Amino acid sequence: MTDKQKNDSCDTYVCSYKMAFMLDNWFRKLLQNPAKIVGEYINEGDTVIDFGCGPGFFSIAMAGMVGKQGKIIAADLQVEMLEHAKRKAAAKNLSDRIEFHHCEKDRVGLELTKKADFMLAYYMIHELPNPGAFFQEARSFLKTGGKFLVVEPKWHVTREKYQEMLGLAENAGFSVLAFPKKKGGRSVLLT
Ligand SMILES: C[S@@+](CC[C@H](N)C(=O)[O-])C[C@H]1O[C@@H](n2cnc3c(N)ncnc32)[C@H](O)[C@@H]1O
Repeated sequence: MTDKQKNDSCDTYVCSYKMAFMLDNWFRKLLQNPAKIVGEYINEGDTVIDFGCGPGFFSIAMAGMVGKQGKIIAADLQVEMLEHAKRKAAAKNLSDRIEFHHCEKDRVGLELTKKADFMLAYYMIHELPNPGAFFQEARSFLKTGGKFLVVEPKWHVTREKYQEMLGLAENAGFSVLAFPKKKGGRSVLLT
């Protein structure tokens, strides 16, 4: 199925764990340095949720940014992606700062003791069967004044689809703070 057909039929597909090497490598770091993409939104001690964390490209970097007192919740649908991220966290001695969470396809299902200061959904929303329901749920995880960066790939998500997604986020109660540049795709900072 081509991207166009996927968009036309509103069908979604999930980026397989077999593609993890495409998401986690030195070349990507050159093009999409996590420090440049999320560094400005994260402080030491923060609680951060990485929705659709994949092999942990952002989760691991953000674990460095939040420091020993902070916490990352790395959430994904695919156990294999979570296992990949877990191995990487252990190798970098960051396991104690990262909690791994297995999502259901139509529900994140987190039970938080502390709401998030920052949340990230990087190249993830277009894979969801029901983005509207996701935004409703995600809103309950963010503390008042917290920030949520959503980045979608231009090659999968048309401008129209992106606008539709923004509408769903606003319907769920998020407001747009900014459309930051140079984040690696169609990007919005929500609160
Ligand atoms: C294109 S990958 C991006 C991974 C990561 N955010 C990154 O930038 O490296 C999309 C990820 O979203 C996850 N995903 C897809 N649908 C999901 C769902 N319903 N709930 C949680 N994660 C999901 C996939 O398993 C995959 O790991």
